[in-house]
Amino acid sequence: VDLFISTRATHSPPSTPPYCYLENLRAGSVGSAVAYSLLLRQVVADIVLIDINHDLCRAQVQDLSDATFLSNVRIRQGTLEDAQKADIIIITAGAKQKPGDTRLALVDRNFKVLKSILQSLQPIRSDAILLIVANPVDILTLFAQRLSGLPKGQVLGSGTLLDSIRLTRILASKLKVADTSIHAFVIGEHGDSQSVAWSTATVHGTPLLKVLPLTEAERDEIATTTKKKAEAIIKVKGFTSYGVAAVTARICEAIIFDHRQVLPLSHWQKEWDCCLSLPAVLGRDGIISSFPLSLNESEQAFLSSSAQSLKKVIAEYAE
Ligand code: LAC
Repeated sequence: VDLFISTRATHSPPSTPPYCYLENLRAGSVGSAVAYSLLLRQVVADIVLIDINHDLCRAQVQDLSDATFLSNVRIRQGTLEDAQKADIIIITAGAKQKPGDTRLALVDRNFKVLKSILQSLQPIRSDAILLIVANPVDILTLFAQRLSGLPKGQVLGSGTLLDSIRLTRILASKLKVADTSIHAFVIGEHGDSQSVAWSTATVHGTPLLKVLPLTEAERDEIATTTKKKAEAIIKVKGFTSYGVAAVTARICEAIIFDHRQVLPLSHWQKEWDCCLSLPAVLGRDGIISSFPLSLNESEQAFLSSSAQSLKKVIAEYAE
């Protein structure tokens, strides 16, 4: 299995001031963490990394290759031709959130980066899966669908899988059960308009709110902590990488082994003609289907307003 990971960073001007180098390094931090997760999980046989900063990419590959003894996964620096042959193309490229910024604030810069990558990737294998990790992930996933020409199900975003994992961790620690015994979804935007589908959350089939009777204020607090987790990390270390990398490895695993796992991922929604996260069945062909979630009225309203806020941004970019 060929795997191409773009860790391509920002389009820096030729005379790069030192802080831009750091920016590049930060941009490369998600792609290299994804490669590290894939390598440790032995999800693929081959990993190819590409970055606009060739020296940084070479150094990341050199460093990562010191870890391949654990798994015999091959890793190398690649070219765009490698990407054209890859089974899964992961795009982590782009500017990162600044402390206090929303993910949506990145749309301008990262849309340009995405557009230039997708143009240089043509022709993409017709059965390739395009996995968008860069932010704002929902908007970029929709644009990637439009620009790549691939069937919509083959272009997906990591979406709120990470938020759902963050939420599950909090609930699991309150209940003192394993994370895997809890099914709870964060839905909508991977960003400020996301919400928790509390009414559908279960602990091994029993409604979560029966085993953990949370007040509305407690639910709001948990939802806010979940939503703000990335911000809290970014405030101190400048970026997040390990969580999103682990999530990306999990998504690749489900694709490669055709797991048909139900995961909250950003994918196309006919109702709104935008991408946002709802549970979906994931397998070798990408998003096999959206999985129905019976939301109550207020959850449905939150979801619609999340879609509307994404659509507002999309409308500014109408081609
Ligand atoms: C986060 C980034 C990936 O939530 O958006 O950590």
